[in-house]
Amino acid sequence: MAQTSAKLKVGLMLPYTGTYASLGNAIENGFRLYLAEKGGKLSGREIEFIKVDDESDPSKATDNVNKLIKRDNVDVLVGTVHSGVAMAMAKVAKDTGTILIVPNAGADVVTGAMCAPNIFRSSFTNWQPGYAMGEVVAKKGHKKVVTITWKYAAGDESVNGFKESFEKAGGKVVKELTLPFPNVEFQALLTEIAATKPDAVYTFFSGGGAVKFVKDYAAAGLKKSIPLYGPGFLTDGTLEAQGAAAEGLLTTLHYADSLGTARDNAFRLAYAKTYKLQPDVFAVQGYDAAQMLGIGLAAVKGDISKRAGFVSAIEKAKIDSPRGAFTLSKSHNPVQDIYLRQVVGNENRFVSVISKALADPARGCKM
Ligand code: PHB
Repeated sequence: MAQTSAKLKVGLMLPYTGTYASLGNAIENGFRLYLAEKGGKLSGREIEFIKVDDESDPSKATDNVNKLIKRDNVDVLVGTVHSGVAMAMAKVAKDTGTILIVPNAGADVVTGAMCAPNIFRSSFTNWQPGYAMGEVVAKKGHKKVVTITWKYAAGDESVNGFKESFEKAGGKVVKELTLPFPNVEFQALLTEIAATKPDAVYTFFSGGGAVKFVKDYAAAGLKKSIPLYGPGFLTDGTLEAQGAAAEGLLTTLHYADSLGTARDNAFRLAYAKTYKLQPDVFAVQGYDAAQMLGIGLAAVKGDISKRAGFVSAIEKAKIDSPRGAFTLSKSHNPVQDIYLRQVVGNENRFVSVISKALADPARGCKM
């Protein structure tokens, strides 16, 4: 019999150092904001956080997650940002049955071939914003595109999603450039883009790497001649550092800074008051991970050992996210609107809804 009066142990596995450090912090901030709104407790249970800096390093991921489960006995795992680390977390979660809520990492397999009743995502698949952007770039009349990204699951899958819809609409990805994560030596690749003269470039970078890429792209003189597109990670949480180099960029994402809904306005105000910072998509995903945990716990009165009730409550929920309400697909990934946004000053301004209720194809998920 689980003690429902004891603290609920949440293992927070996130990057607190490296190129994705700001993303990890925003996710934790969002998670804590929701908790604070509930008076610090979910279904009567106080939350104890056990934090691990996963350094976005897949080679350390299995050890890190095993420690949280076996040494620290966490009740729930929340993590992470990097797809390679998240895949290792999902493997252990699947093997041990521990509840896992992924507050960012988009690795398609986590809600694809690795899907499981105890694995949930509050964010997106890498395919989702990529696929939406392929349609946008095709509609702009671009035919020939070069892609550039880090060589790991997130970059590969983002490019694949883009390519799928872009080529279906008659475009062609003529070159796929990559460099190892988290390398930021872009010069040789920018020279290659200039020589190839595509109609447009599609890119996945995020965090510190996105800041440097957007600045280098503009400094190389490419921004004026070859329009740059990407999923919104390219410009979320980065605009102050990118400055004029980001102005005007069009990106696709499940969040924007100017949705103007009562729900989002209230969230943004509370976040800004608490942290003296503007929220970004990562903060929203952390906030919604806490909401999902809260929904599951409420259904079982805080007794997370009542697995079936916990899982089915989240499966049935309409999650009242600042991004707009969303539901989960059968594979436990958000079915959500994807917005086109444009950088105006320090804002990723809402332009239009590009894909209404876009669901990931969840290839390989049997559940
Ligand atoms: C990922 O590794 O899945 C990832 C990382 C950073 C992002 C988005 C996706 O902004």
